[in-house]
Amino acid sequence: MPRVLPPKIPFGGAASGRPGPPSGAVRAGERNSPATRLNSFMADEIDEALLDAARRELNELAGMTDHACEPREFAYACLVSEVPANGRHGKVVFVDDSEVAVFNIAGEIFAISNLCPHEMSPLLAAGFVDCEARTVACPLHGWTFEIETGKLLGASGSVPVYDVKLADGEVWLRLRE
Ligand code: FES
Repeated sequence: MPRVLPPKIPFGGAASGRPGPPSGAVRAGERNSPATRLNSFMADEIDEALLDAARRELNELAGMTDHACEPREFAYACLVSEVPANGRHGKVVFVDDSEVAVFNIAGEIFAISNLCPHEMSPLLAAGFVDCEARTVACPLHGWTFEIETGKLLGASGSVPVYDVKLADGEVWLRLRE
């Protein structure tokens, strides 16, 4: 592997803000100046074995990071039958200590955070559902969110959305990344 050296530290010159020597000039005592010794150390005393070990360690850490980014597990939320079918409201459940509003729109289950970001009010499950538009309006001041995407209508913003998995009449949820 070709050896890549760090840039030399300038000894004076425009980059350092100090006047530098004219091109080709040799300062008295330059051989032993701190900058010369540091440059020499950086150029000649890089331990390739240590560098390789550091690279290996970084690669291992990167592998651990990939592992840590694995998708979350689905968590049980409730029975499908507990979610009001085509109702005006949703059902509140708790997933990973978060309040979630679960809706049944024409037989499809959706889940978004129950917290309205306007005043962090836990009220979206009690909001007004428009089944055709697939939206829910917060009962306090009317902020309206798309149930499928969590997007706030008419302004920037959104609420967290959950992936839904149905199994044996049960609703399982996972926070969407
Ligand atoms: S608290 Fe939801 S719109 Fe105000």
